[in-house]
Parts: sequence; structure tokens; C-alpha cells
Amino acid sequence: MVWNMTTSTVARQTDVRLGFASLEEETAVDRLPVSGEVPAWLTGALVRVTPALLEVGGRRLAHWFDGVAMLNRFGFADGRVSYRNRFIDSLAYRDAKEGEWRHGGFATDPCRSIFKRVQSMFSPDVTDNPNVNLARIGERYIAMTETPMPIEFDPETLDTIGHLAYADSLKAHVTTAHPHHDPERDELVNYVARFSRVSEYVLYGLPAASSRRRVIAKLPVERPAYMHAFGMSGRHLILAEYPLRVNPLKLALSGKPFIENYVWTPEEGTKFQVIDRETGAVRGTYETEPFFCFHHVNAFERSASELVVDLIAYADPTIIDALYLDEHGPRGAIPSTELRRYVIDLAGGAVRWEKLAEGTVELPRIDYARRNARDYAYAYLAGSGGDWLDRLVKVDVREGTRREWSAPDCHPGEPIFVRGPGDESEDGGVVLSVVLDAAAGHSFLLVLDAGSFEELARAAAPHHIPFGFHGQYLR
Ligand code: CO
Repeated sequence: MVWNMTTSTVARQTDVRLGFASLEEETAVDRLPVSGEVPAWLTGALVRVTPALLEVGGRRLAHWFDGVAMLNRFGFADGRVSYRNRFIDSLAYRDAKEGEWRHGGFATDPCRSIFKRVQSMFSPDVTDNPNVNLARIGERYIAMTETPMPIEFDPETLDTIGHLAYADSLKAHVTTAHPHHDPERDELVNYVARFSRVSEYVLYGLPAASSRRRVIAKLPVERPAYMHAFGMSGRHLILAEYPLRVNPLKLALSGKPFIENYVWTPEEGTKFQVIDRETGAVRGTYETEPFFCFHHVNAFERSASELVVDLIAYADPTIIDALYLDEHGPRGAIPSTELRRYVIDLAGGAVRWEKLAEGTVELPRIDYARRNARDYAYAYLAGSGGDWLDRLVKVDVREGTRREWSAPDCHPGEPIFVRGPGDESEDGGVVLSVVLDAAAGHSFLLVLDAGSFEELARAAAPHHIPFGFHGQYLR
């Protein structure tokens, strides 16, 4: 395969470190070279967000989670695949173009007090760099980070539309970039944390056609936990409070980067806060041994009193330390994880858990539209047998069996399930993933048959795409 390598994106590395090299080029390609066969029924687009710019003003950003957000879009029509990538025109991006890092972030210090961050969510010290995930709210599409300042974009052109303006007065400092969708109300469901002398978690629903958030529940909390995602079953919302907590008053005064204000106190254990979706009442607080987690997989009621919560567990939060950047890549290897099922006895209070599969996995996806909040069979994940993600894994959570895809020098990202038309089986469809072929010096879009987990096709991108977090298939 011959590539035009005259751009600034000529490969600097030929191993996993290439995934942590900045990509500055924005491009659009009508038709990517495809090997294999892309199903003709795929007619939407896979849009992902990646931290693409990892140096600002000649200085390496401190942490992978602070990379400046770029959108990547793989469009499908008649078995052909188009490609486009654009930076999101955030305040953080505008600063970065000027070589400035003014707004702080997850772990990269703007070298000034963050006191204002706690004073006002629209303080200029709060980052709006939406590099974590995307969501659709009715006809609006947003990119998100963990401050409540999502940015709307055009899913076809990837043009930035602007900050999503809320028509309510809900004040908050942090949120998750992993909202749920309530199909009955057609609402995006999420939580925010408001830092104060008496802080609180606020769970809310944002109706598809509205900019006014509907408060579902408020929970006072003395020291909020760092929570990257949460669970939603048929009847409940589930916050898993890991013992990685912040004292908001110390946060206001420390001058340290955001995440470095959170303290790991394993003696406190992990607490599941289970909230009734209808009434907003706390059903209970259920304690278990300490663990850390970014991603919930699914949650559902198995009986009137048994709540199942599946998630990816770490022994502790050292994954955050591992993802600080040095010149070439992350400082450390991915610590081992476990795909776990927690079963909460809502009446009796007991919490027990079991491991659903062997091996280190992350970035879980399911057939969300049909299986979220319901009993399910299949989870799709990226897995690691070494220092970094090097395989895709499909786990049958009922049987404990797994299928894997891997290829030499290839490092896949999050696997996204797309249901086939009229296919009623849970794994009837394809799995899409953007894979870095480090030896070849570029990324490709991989299409797997979701049932057999065999490769159907790949479409080669014109450059490497830095490793990213999450994306969505937009129909
Ligand atoms: Co995430």
C-alpha cells in the first residue's frame, strides 16, 4: 500500500508510542482503501473523539486525559468508507493554537491558583476541552469532558456549533462524559457534583427537545468521589463511590491540578449509592471492599431485591498515575483489571461479586439500545496482554467464554457494536474499532462480525490517529 507521507504527520514512531504522538493535520478523504468487504447495510458514521494534540506551546501535556480534542469520522455508504477529522473549536483549542494552556484540566497545571474553578463553573480556569465522549440529545450532538460544558457539533461536517447552553440554574463543577439514555422519556441522564461547604451529587434528566435539566435526585456528600461513569438499571441509578475522594475546601486552595486533590483512602471501602429513578429517593447505601473503576458495563434488576452491577474494576487508582505522559507515551503500563459482576441485596444490604472473565479489559460496550438496564449476554472490550491495549475481546458474561481479535503490532481502541438491520440476535451485527497499526505508521477502521468475531474488512486512514477514549455510531 502506498501512502502520501508528505504531511507533518509522518510517523515518528513505529510502536505503541505512535498512539501518543500528536496529530495536527485535518483532512477529508472521500474513499479510503478498503480490504475485505464492508457490509452495504452500514449507512451511518462512526464518530470518535481523541486527545489529538499532546503538546502545547512546545510543552508536553502532563497527562493523556488533557490532550486537545479532535473528532474523527468514518462514514459508510454502499460498502465504501469516507474519512474526515477536525479539531473541536473549544476555548482550550484556541488557546493551544496560541501556544497557551490557560484552563487547567485533569492533571496539567495551568500554573496558577484554581480557586476560581470552585467559585464559578464558567470561570476561565475551567477547561472546556471535550475529549472524552460524544452523545446525541434528540437532534443535537455533543462532545463532552468532565466539566459540565459540552460542545455541540455537526455530525456530518464536524463543524463546531458552540457550547450547549442550559436554560436552568443548576450549578456544578464536575460531571461524567458517560450519560445514559432513558428511552421512555427520551432523556439523557447524567450526574453532576457541586462543590461547596456541603457538596452534593445531582442526578438529572435532559429531555431530547429541551435545554432545561430535570433534577431526579440530590445527595449531600462531604467529600465527593471521583466517578467517571455510573450505572442505570430499570428502576435505579447507581453511583459507585470509590474511596478516591476530594475535600472541596482543600481543592479550592491547594493550587494543585484537579485530580491530584483526590486522596485514596481504601479503609473507607467502596459505597454503592442506589437511587430510585422514579422518586429520586435513595434506596440504600451498600458497602463493599475498596476498588477503583472508570467504566460501568451494565446494570439490571435480577429480582425484586437483587441488583446486578457489572463494571471494570482496578485494585486501586494507579491507572491514573500510569497515564501521565513522558516524551513518548504513558509513564506506566495498564494495571490489571477485572470484569466483575457485583450483586447487591437491596433488602438485606449484602454486596457480593464474581469475576465474569479472565484477563485485563477496558473500554466496555454492549448492545446499548436493546440491552442496557436488562439482562444481557455480550460485552465487547479492548484487552491487554502486555503494557497497552493489543486485542479486542467479546465476553459471554453468562457463560464466561470469550473470543478475541488481534494482529501483530496492532493496538485497537474501544469496540462499538452496531446492530444489523432486522437482526434480533443480541450479537447480530458488526463491531467497529479504530486500530493503530504501529508498524505501518497509520490507523485503520476495523470491521468485525459481532457474532463470530472474525474480521470482515479494514479501511486504512491516511495517518495515525492518536489513541482515544470513546465514540458513537450515528445512524
Ligand atoms: Co470513559
